[in-house]
Amino acid sequence: MKIIKTIEKVKKLIKESKEKNLSIGFVPTMGYLHDGHISLVKRAKKENDLVVVSIFVNPLQFGPNEDYERYPRDIESDIKILKKNGCDILFLPENKELYKEQLVIINIIELSEKLCGLSRPTHFQGVLTVVAKLFNIITPSRSYFGEKDYQQLLIIKKMVDDLNFDTKIVPCPIVREKDGLAMSSRNSYLSPDERKKSTILYRSLLKGKEIIKKTGDIENAKNVIKDMIESVNPTKIDYIEIYDEKNLKEINEKTKYCRIFLAVFFGKTRLIDNMRVKIK
Ligand code: PAF
Repeated sequence: MKIIKTIEKVKKLIKESKEKNLSIGFVPTMGYLHDGHISLVKRAKKENDLVVVSIFVNPLQFGPNEDYERYPRDIESDIKILKKNGCDILFLPENKELYKEQLVIINIIELSEKLCGLSRPTHFQGVLTVVAKLFNIITPSRSYFGEKDYQQLLIIKKMVDDLNFDTKIVPCPIVREKDGLAMSSRNSYLSPDERKKSTILYRSLLKGKEIIKKTGDIENAKNVIKDMIESVNPTKIDYIEIYDEKNLKEINEKTKYCRIFLAVFFGKTRLIDNMRVKIK
C-alpha cells in the first residue's frame, strides 16, 4: 500500500493507473476505521482494479462547538487495517495541503435543511466541499458511502448529478455491532452506561418498522419510538423523523420506501441511525 500525502503525487499515480485503464474505487473517510469502513473497502476491492482510501478529518464540516479537536484519531491502526483489507493507495493529506485559501464552498438547498442540517447548519457544505475536492483529485470510477449517513449519501448523489461529476456513487448497508448499535467512530466516546443505553436506537427502529408494516400509522410509530428512547433517559433527542427515502419529503401515496431517522445525544455524544421500511 502506498501512503501519499500530497495532491501532486496522488494525481500522478492516478494518471498512471488511468493510462493502464485501471478502474478506481474510492472510499473517503475521516479515519479511526471500524468494520463499517472495512465493508466499504472490501466492496471497492471487489468491484475495481485499484482501491484508494482517503483519511482526512475535515475541519470544514464541524461546527464551532463540535468535536473537531477531540475527534478520535489512530493512524497507525488505520494503516494496518487498510493494508490487511486490500487498499492500494492511502491518501493522507494534511490540512494545509487540502485547504489553502478556500473561498469556494459548495452548498445544497432543500435536502440539507432538515434532519442533521437543522442542528448542524454548515455541516453539509463542509462535506460537499471536501468530497468535491477529493473527487476532482482522485477521479474515481466508483465511490463508496455508508447508509448510516443516509442524508449525506443523498446529498452527495445530488451533487454528483447536478455538477456532472464522473463517478458512480455506491451506497453500502449499515454495519452493526452484535447488539445492534450502528458502527461509528464516535461510539468510542460513550461511557459504559451510555453504551448500554445506546442500544435503544436499534431496538426502537425495529419497533417503528414493525408498526409501519402492520398499520401504516407513521405518527404512532414516531410516538412509540419516542417513548422507547425516553425510557432510557438519553441526554437529548435531536430528532425522530420518518420520510420518503427518495427525497426526504413527507410520505405520500407514491412513496415506496420510507426511512426512520434518529439522532439522539448520550452525554455529549450525538448518535445517528436509520432504517428502511417498505410501505404497505
Ligand atoms: O462520512 C464521512 O466520514 C465524512 O463525512 C466524509 C464523507 C469522509 C467527508 O469528510
